[in-house]
Amino acid sequence: MATKTARFTYEEHDDESTLSKEEVSLLHAAREAAQHAYAPYSHFRVGAMLLMENGKTVSGTNQENASYPVGICAERTGLSAASSLYPGMPVKAIAVSYDNELGESDRPITPCGICRQTLAEYQQRFGAPIRLILAGRTGKIWVIPDSNALLPLSFSGDDLK
Ligand code: THU
Repeated sequence: MATKTARFTYEEHDDESTLSKEEVSLLHAAREAAQHAYAPYSHFRVGAMLLMENGKTVSGTNQENASYPVGICAERTGLSAASSLYPGMPVKAIAVSYDNELGESDRPITPCGICRQTLAEYQQRFGAPIRLILAGRTGKIWVIPDSNALLPLSFSGDDLK
């Protein structure tokens, strides 16, 4: 028997002053995007802003549905849009922020399980890490250099071979 440990390292920033200029502008754009979410049921509007390898950005927002499970998270909306607009182009980074009509937006949120699996697929597809920049409107900012860290021991296409 062997006991194994999975660990990962991420950055916690007290404010934007220690982020790169690129990260700050991506985060600001994610906050702006959140305002365009369609979230009439949860009143929790999420914005994702993706930075593509060519320097272009692509936005995603959560898109809810009266049949709740049909709704799509901002991260997956953004990844689908990026893959459609720039087929075959790696995603370098994604900033995610949110507005919460029922509460505060003062801490980072992290992608849900389905989004983590989707992120893992994109990372594997392009063989390049996707950097996550996660923050509310205010508060601390988390930077996760490799989104795969959020889904250790993940299932992938390799398992289907
Ligand atoms: N949501 C996202 O879009 N991204 C996340 O990272 C967490 C949750 C959405 C799904 C749903 O529309 C609403 O937020 C409340 O869960």
